[in-house]
Amino acid sequence: MCAAGMVLVFISVVWLVDHPVVRGYASWYPYEYIQHSVRQFEQKTDRFWEFDEQTNRWVEVQLPYDLVTCANDNCTKVGSLDRRSHGEERWERQSHDPEQSETSAKDDRGEAADGSSMVLPLRKRLSVTKMSETSIWITGESGSIYERFWNGVQWVLAPHDFATPAGRAISVFIINHTILALSEAGQLCQMQLSESSQPIWVEVPVKFNSSSSQEKEKASITQIKSGVVSFDGMSVYFCTKNGALLELSDIEPPRWVNHGRPPGANVALITDAGALRPEAVFIISSKGDLYEYDKSSKPPWKKHIMKQGREEDASLTVARGCTLLGMNGDHSASVFLLTKAGDLVERRIHQQKWKWISHGSPNNHNLTSMTLVLQHEFSENMYSLFFTTSSGSVVEYRIPKHSEVVQKPPMDVWANHMHPMHGKAARGISGVQLQIGRVIFALDDGRLAELHLPGLGGENSGPGQPNIRKKPSSKYVWSVFDAPESEGWNAEYCTEERGPANCVTGTKDEPNDSGTTSMVTRRRKASATQESYLLPGTSEGTNVQQHTFPDDRMNANFRLRVMHGSRSFFLITDGGLTFEYLYADNIWFWLQHDHPTAMKVVLGNYNGSLFLADIYKSLLMRERSSNELTWVNCTAMRKGRQVRAGPPWDGIPGRESKLTVDDALFFVSKSGRLMQFTVFMRKFKWKDCRNPPNTKVSCIIDQELFRRNIVFVVGTDGRLYQYNKVTELWHEHYQSRHLLLSGSPGTVMRPSSVSLEGSIFVLSRDGGLVEYQWSTVNGWNWVEHGTPHKAVTLVCPPGPCFEGNQLFVIGSDGDVYMRYTEETTWKWKSFGHPYIGNTASEDHRETKASGAHDAICIPKDTNAGAEKEPTQFDDLDRNCDTKVAPTRPIPFSDDSVIFELKDGRLAEMRRVGEADWAWSRIIGTPTSLCVANYWTAMAS
Ligand SMILES: *[C@@H]1O[C@H](CO)[C@@H](O)[C@H](O)[C@H]1NC(C)=O
Ligand SMILES: *[C@@H]1O[C@H](CO)[C@@H](O)[C@H](O)[C@H]1NC(C)=O
Ligand SMILES: *[C@@H]1O[C@H](CO)[C@@H](O)[C@H](O)[C@H]1NC(C)=O
Ligand SMILES: *[C@@H]1O[C@H](CO)[C@@H](O)[C@H](O)[C@H]1NC(C)=O
Ligand SMILES: *[C@@H]1O[C@H](CO)[C@@H](O)[C@H](O)[C@H]1NC(C)=O
Ligand SMILES: *[C@@H]1O[C@H](CO)[C@@H](O)[C@H](O)[C@H]1NC(C)=O
Repeated sequence: MCAAGMVLVFISVVWLVDHPVVRGYASWYPYEYIQHSVRQFEQKTDRFWEFDEQTNRWVEVQLPYDLVTCANDNCTKVGSLDRRSHGEERWERQSHDPEQSETSAKDDRGEAADGSSMVLPLRKRLSVTKMSETSIWITGESGSIYERFWNGVQWVLAPHDFATPAGRAISVFIINHTILALSEAGQLCQMQLSESSQPIWVEVPVKFNSSSSQEKEKASITQIKSGVVSFDGMSVYFCTKNGALLELSDIEPPRWVNHGRPPGANVALITDAGALRPEAVFIISSKGDLYEYDKSSKPPWKKHIMKQGREEDASLTVARGCTLLGMNGDHSASVFLLTKAGDLVERRIHQQKWKWISHGSPNNHNLTSMTLVLQHEFSENMYSLFFTTSSGSVVEYRIPKHSEVVQKPPMDVWANHMHPMHGKAARGISGVQLQIGRVIFALDDGRLAELHLPGLGGENSGPGQPNIRKKPSSKYVWSVFDAPESEGWNAEYCTEERGPANCVTGTKDEPNDSGTTSMVTRRRKASATQESYLLPGTSEGTNVQQHTFPDDRMNANFRLRVMHGSRSFFLITDGGLTFEYLYADNIWFWLQHDHPTAMKVVLGNYNGSLFLADIYKSLLMRERSSNELTWVNCTAMRKGRQVRAGPPWDGIPGRESKLTVDDALFFVSKSGRLMQFTVFMRKFKWKDCRNPPNTKVSCIIDQELFRRNIVFVVGTDGRLYQYNKVTELWHEHYQSRHLLLSGSPGTVMRPSSVSLEGSIFVLSRDGGLVEYQWSTVNGWNWVEHGTPHKAVTLVCPPGPCFEGNQLFVIGSDGDVYMRYTEETTWKWKSFGHPYIGNTASEDHRETKASGAHDAICIPKDTNAGAEKEPTQFDDLDRNCDTKVAPTRPIPFSDDSVIFELKDGRLAEMRRVGEADWAWSRIIGTPTSLCVANYWTAMAS
């Protein structure tokens, strides 16, 4: 941001029009300069704040805004603030700021279902940079850096992320075989080889060769905003966050030159460095003016004035332009630029004379970024400009050759290439030409897309010399490429192993001795992902009946939660009491956590803090601070909401979870919206992620256990949707119309933590088990597993899941079943329910599994000393029923599951041996009438 950001006051700024600097170069714009003789007030900003006494904070006002004066409650208008006609509207203003849109946008956005005319949000970190025909470097919206590389066999993705301290990347520069990357915080880093030959990023400090200590000091805090590699590839020009032009002219060792800024203006973006003239740099100021810098001329800065009194929209937008030489004769040169209104303008020099030429824009399109594309390898002059529009289409402008006057442009100078199905080109992000007939664009949803001639390009086509002798037709086609998991997508990184996906040189897999050719077919058909991800609201099944789920159902899904594996878990009782079952000082006991309001559900556990919701759906956090246990009302925080559901699980049993700065818990609000609650380092923050168009969120199926940055939800229409934390976009997944999901949580099965392959298991509305599976070969697939047998339906969401292949479910008969794989074949197994045999004695309890194939004897749990030993009378007691209740069970450790029984007691099942499980103990609870003897304590 080169623009000065902080404008918090109601003032107008005096601006001297007969500015001495302007006058100096009047000869550059002979007929455009009109001298003003009067001073005038100019409103320099459109952003004003007013102090709201009720909330005790500054609130931005909507313009026009009346200024009033009040005396004795008699208020009169003395003036008015309106949108100013020109000045420095910051480009970033239009960005999609979720906080702003939350207050100003209507509750349910009423745009057209396909959002065709919707202005896309600005992606701050997306960039695409070409290193060679075999290598493209991308910075993702998450701040990742990755390379798309042709290893001779296929395109692979190689990760090049910053180590955490440098933060998020926003762009990459390739200069003389050196790779530089810029972080969002304004730091420049260089890729170097470490002692172990691993590439690492090393900061390139900004240091000027100057004796002035003042300047040295300044340099140390210089933050870079953006940069451009010079046309000759010898240096990089940078624009700093405070609006100065810097040059990095040598890298080993770094040599920096500070070129300062135009008088009375700043450098917001460098648009040309040495292409038009080797010694000239063209920049755009944040006010939207074009300046030319040439250190050898006097004065060095020249302003290329546009028509005076122009509409504000006609000033330049802060977006890279393109330079073309010789399009209009030997000594002509042009800089193509975009205006704030999204039109194409040209600054052309021909026979030593400069002029502005307006090319407009195609109907209903506002142009936001420009990509220069060479159309014919044998003709230097066959150029096109490709633009991304504000609504995500790509349009092409074929530059009319030798067009002195563009008064009658031929009808077909503009061509619309639209955008890929279910994906839009990112607004304001330039693409790159890979080679003739192939242009790569970043998509708004984080993926990449290639616009290419049919038969040339796409996922499976490597670089090569195309043979395009005839004029290329406008018949381009789109191919979409998956992005890595950092962006919420499914592409896996290349590997160090020999094979087609090797990071350096791919080798084709030969079928091996056993005759398997699986590796050969590992490449997924490029279309597989495209068909799975739909823009929400575009699928046909929108007339499905919307379901609401009764609260007691939700209660059963969030009744139990692990606090510390193997040591403590929480139970919410029907009466709204909160109990913790705890192992301390060698005994198990129940600890009651008192709260003035009755509890309903326990929704999450993050780093030792537990999140619960009371019967009024307020989100309450239970945590230990120093030695005290405290309650924190999260709903009472700014933008807090009432919630009714949360993430199903806090991790995968047996797998470490690490804390990261983006950590958040997702909840479903009372009204069916997805809410993001940031929890990392107690920097609590609520964000409304809304809901897919046409449906509300019924429940969260998975939060980020299956895919980092993706929250899968089921809508009240019974369909699967996902929310991407990075792009803030909703997608609907392809789902056949007859399959309706129940509005309850799911469970993830990830056989390996290194591969993205795996499945999400959910319950269908008719009580069957459904799998949604991702494989690198086949993409997404639905698999219906049905029920263990005809007479039984599943009454509870599936889970937990162990070892990536053992999934527990509860049947309508009160028995526990397991769905598991044995040598790639799916099988059902019944574990019945716990049953206390009549032969149980004090020192050797026998727990039998009724209905199961085997009865297994378990020696008495030595830890169970605090429990009342179940007696032979238990089974005769009408308060006792050891059938399993439809309460979502929890994994207590990586070899233990806790179920609730119909009589209100709990039962634990443990792994025995490799893959078998058996009932191990029954745990009496404070509220169960079946066993009344237990230890409780009150938590203070
Ligand atoms: C409010 O002020 C205006 C101008 O000062 C005056 O004309 C008007 O009578 C006042 N109204 C009241 C209700 O005092
Ligand atoms: C480019 O790099 C090579 C070696 O890496 C060096 O010899 C050469 O001087 C560099 N060229 C420029 C223009 O910096
Ligand atoms: C940088 O400064 C040193 C000492 O002040 C001087 O010898 C050297 O020539 C300078 N380099 C450039 C490129 O100005
Ligand atoms: C293009 O921009 C103009 C003016 O800035 C605006 O009125 C118009 O709605 C925009 N059109 C689209 C399709 O975004
Ligand atoms: C052949 O392929 C199978 C399955 O991919 C694999 O398990 C086996 O190790 C391979 N054998 C050789 C000799 O590479
Ligand atoms: C939590 O805060 C909400 C919103 O301020 C309030 O309505 C609710 O009563 C509070 N609940 C508790 C238990 O403090």
